[in-house]
Amino acid sequence: MTCRIAPSILSADFAHLADDVARLEAGGADWIHIDVMDGRFVPNLSFGAKVIETVRKLTKLPLDVHLMVVEPESYFDAFAKAGANNMTIHAEAAPHLNRQLARIRELGCGAGVAINPSTPLEAVREVATDLDVLLVMTVNPGFGGQSFIASSLDKVRRARLLLIETNSRAALEVDGGISRATIEQVWRAGADTFVAGNAVFSAPDPRAEIAALRALCTEHA
Ligand code: DX5
Ligand code: ZN
Repeated sequence: MTCRIAPSILSADFAHLADDVARLEAGGADWIHIDVMDGRFVPNLSFGAKVIETVRKLTKLPLDVHLMVVEPESYFDAFAKAGANNMTIHAEAAPHLNRQLARIRELGCGAGVAINPSTPLEAVREVATDLDVLLVMTVNPGFGGQSFIASSLDKVRRARLLLIETNSRAALEVDGGISRATIEQVWRAGADTFVAGNAVFSAPDPRAEIAALRALCTEHA
């Protein structure tokens, strides 16, 4: 298993977004993570289709769009058109996951479900084989730069088991508080895709930081 690093542009310098995205690409980022917040599902606003479209023009890397919004289906068409590759919706905001995931796929995108730290894994069991991405939140979403919630480690372990038990080929992504201090344990717990915002953008050299994070995900002994 190899790891994927997905820097979140939530922590980018929006006055220099093109430079920041170029730096991520040069640093070997695997996906660009785009955090969409609506001020309703989470207590913060970020950006929407326009920024996805802007980033689409700046890079060929897959755009991993995380929808922290209520009624996510109202954004699917616009985000797909703007160039999203994956769209991940929150189980807490999506009562009709089968239908919503199918619609994301119909639009040609990878389909993901995210669960908040307090949401049981069982919320995704019935749709596990329909998933391209299972996103286990390791902070309560809404802001960059929060601390990793330690109990998430055990949840990631159980999430990996769930994917194995259900024969799901979904990526197991984690988001929130991922840094040099936390990534290795989370990788060992079974995650394969790591969102990192603050860790990458507060580093003196974001390129080197991506490499340092990746280096901590070595093959299991
Ligand atoms: C949290 C967002 C994250 C966030 C991660 O609400 O979903 O993607 O940008 O940021 P860090 O890595 O700073 O915790
Ligand atoms: Zn995110």
